[in-house]
Amino acid sequence: MRTDTGQVFRLEDYRPSDWLIPRTSLTFRLDPDRTRVVAELTIERRAGVAVSTPLVLDGDGIALLAISVDGVPLEPGSYEATPQQLTIAAPPRARSFRLTIETETAPSANTALMGIYRSGGNYCTQCEAEGFRRITYFLDRPDVLSVYKVRIEARRAEAPLLLANGNPGPAGELADGWHFAEWFDPHPKPSYLFALVAGDLAEVADEFVTMSGRKVRLGIFVEHGKQDRAAYAMEALKRSMRWDEETFGREYDLDVFNIVAVSDFNMGAMENKGLNIFNDKYVLADRETATDADFANIEAIIAHEYFHNWTGNRITCRDWFQLCLKEGLTVFRDHEFSADERSRAVERIADVRTLRAHQFPEDQGPLAHPVRPRRYREINNFYTATVYEKGSEVVGMIRTILGAEDFRRGMDLYFERHDGEAATIEDFVKVFEDVSGRDLSQFSLWYHQAGTPNLMVSAAHDANAATLTLEIEQSVPPTPGESRKKAMHIPLAFGLVGADGNDIACSSVSGATVENGVIHLRKRRHVIRFEGLPERPAISLNRGFSAPVTIAFDQPLQERMLLARNDGDLFSRWQALTGLMSGALIEAAGAIRGRKAAKIAPELSQICLETVRSQALEPAYKALALTLPAEADIAREIGSNIDPDAILSARNLLAGVIATANADSFVSTYESLADTGGYSPDAASAGRRALRNVMLDYVTLATASPDIAARQYRGAGNMTDRAAALSVLTMRHPGSAEATEALADFEARFGNDPLVMDKWFQIQAIAPGDGAVDRVRALMTHPGFSLGNPNRVRSLIGTYTTANQTGFHRIDGAGYELLAEIALSVDPKNPQLSARLATAFRSWRSLEEARRERARATLSRIKAAPALSADLRDIVERTLA
Ligand code: PHE
Ligand code: ZN
Repeated sequence: MRTDTGQVFRLEDYRPSDWLIPRTSLTFRLDPDRTRVVAELTIERRAGVAVSTPLVLDGDGIALLAISVDGVPLEPGSYEATPQQLTIAAPPRARSFRLTIETETAPSANTALMGIYRSGGNYCTQCEAEGFRRITYFLDRPDVLSVYKVRIEARRAEAPLLLANGNPGPAGELADGWHFAEWFDPHPKPSYLFALVAGDLAEVADEFVTMSGRKVRLGIFVEHGKQDRAAYAMEALKRSMRWDEETFGREYDLDVFNIVAVSDFNMGAMENKGLNIFNDKYVLADRETATDADFANIEAIIAHEYFHNWTGNRITCRDWFQLCLKEGLTVFRDHEFSADERSRAVERIADVRTLRAHQFPEDQGPLAHPVRPRRYREINNFYTATVYEKGSEVVGMIRTILGAEDFRRGMDLYFERHDGEAATIEDFVKVFEDVSGRDLSQFSLWYHQAGTPNLMVSAAHDANAATLTLEIEQSVPPTPGESRKKAMHIPLAFGLVGADGNDIACSSVSGATVENGVIHLRKRRHVIRFEGLPERPAISLNRGFSAPVTIAFDQPLQERMLLARNDGDLFSRWQALTGLMSGALIEAAGAIRGRKAAKIAPELSQICLETVRSQALEPAYKALALTLPAEADIAREIGSNIDPDAILSARNLLAGVIATANADSFVSTYESLADTGGYSPDAASAGRRALRNVMLDYVTLATASPDIAARQYRGAGNMTDRAAALSVLTMRHPGSAEATEALADFEARFGNDPLVMDKWFQIQAIAPGDGAVDRVRALMTHPGFSLGNPNRVRSLIGTYTTANQTGFHRIDGAGYELLAEIALSVDPKNPQLSARLATAFRSWRSLEEARRERARATLSRIKAAPALSADLRDIVERTLA
């Protein structure tokens, strides 16, 4: 593990590398405990760099066995090798020379899952961001691009399959039962995109013919016996490849494209050139074992990693401050893909829910940072919702400002201008300025300024003058290290909705630039006047969620209800209903805390009913509309002095009111959507299941009986319906015979399938209340659980700490102590995982006092623990700061 040097990396300190490595040749001799790596590097001094410049290569825990320059072993004393660095003080004077380094690593001892490690008996690698330096000494930075040739040697019995980046080369037998394979990747790449896989896996093979008629061999490698579960991923891959050709004109560029599923992986997946490595959770799926949400995630992540081939690999990042250059853009691309393959409105609502659930709290808490950070201590901690999800929103805003056509021209120019380069955010923004002639300098603040902007809105209508006046004031709250903020360019899509529910036009607008239904806010305050409106319309703001902002607008209830029923923009229609629900929930939570009776307006139930009954709306939309804001959403909207118990009570109250008011209708909707036997993971079928399962929860509340859920569990023909029934039983009837029986049945059916058991852990981790701490502790002793596997840890512990508000924020602090215990025991083995777990504390300051003090005490205790990893220390210190 890397020791914490406390070093801070700053964007302004960037300097190009003195040395380049145009060619890299690697030979691996694989052994679980003693893997030998011979790296033959062509080292080149960059033009203009002084001859006396030392060569310093990065390492991380490496043991050097031999070193030579141009074939001649180096004298001891002419170099210095520590586990962290290899320094040659006086390298050859020639412009270019050949450096050969032999090192050794132990994959079997690698629990951090960075560098070369073992998963399920196979060898695999993970190099982003700085894992390559755990394999050999190198210039391990994204702006050093090299052409790689790789030779893998292994015992055939142990590893019949040998894969690396690029195209396959010669392969054959060696003495003593060993064999070898060579791979050549003609595309220069940074070291973080290097990958190797060796082991015994089954292949699902297919073929794709590119737009120019080239044949690409596709392979997905999974554990033996799981081939059938890779069919959906393969189909998603082919659709992704076609979509990138049709939508962005991007063609694949190697003869093969391979995906390997591994069961020990810190993240979702990795875009290594021509050899994507996936968390098996995002590859394997069939009707029995995966939910519709799993299928949708697989489609999105397969697409995401594939799309990286152009946005990330062909054009990579100059330095890690530019991470959003590849991640924000690639998330934008995978969202667009899912929107095209599924339903755009439903996709948008789901994406915004994710953004609000993960990015908003980050932006509003101690870990807030700009989409392009200016400093970091540990880059692993910057694979955040801000870089990914807000980064994607920023790209979406560029398209909103430019329009689809100029946006595409800008992307074309980006690919043309920067292909083969390591680029920056400035390069990216510039292409859009160049194609459109627009000045995006103020807009660029979205990359540089942290915090979620808030818009304070007020409206006044003058019937005599037939004008509507909107006053909009923007403010960006202070974030760590940034107390004063500049006014941002916010593209705010809007509509004016008449009493009949249709959009109405106005004759003229003043006070801000308004183009194609978008108000361009650029000043702190705008007073915008719409003319030609004899009647006051309902104002629909931030349609399609055109900007990632919060809005405070005391809009009359009648107007909000009109929008919840009629807004022609489905995102905003959903937003209006969700907003009404939030308002009711916040009020109810306040009343419950003040021990007063909470009242819920009957119109809310009525709008829910109308939504479910609508002939025009698709089931997936209805399911989203009828899903109440999560407890964490309500907490975030309340903002401070949070009492999770009151929020849970309020949420149960509202759900009960809606359920009871609409009981008959919801039962018949539930029945009308009954599973008729066939199963297809397509979006329309998934939408029907989603609505049916939302109905199941309401119906269970209305009947106050576990019967219907228990029946659904027993008769479930697919995992979506089975998991939904199980979760309704454990949430609504915990401890009942039906819940207990279903949990036991699930365990009996899937006990041997860790990925499926993750759902079982997850469902039990969510069940609210004080009992959660002990339940989670007990589940940790289950034979299927292991602190060594990130998927297990995330499904039980991660779910408990992030999705179980009352269980985690238990008032006596027992939940915090449990998390501290787990984080500290995981930390020495897998710092990325412990650091990620600790981010569950990020909103601690917004809790009510008793919990806040407990959280502070626990955080301080973690901070004081000996030998924290750099990763965990960074999170804990920033969280406490
Ligand atoms: N680059 C990966 C992705 O988003 C994420 C990742 C980061 C994976 C770091 C592993 C390690 O596609
Ligand atoms: Zn990515």
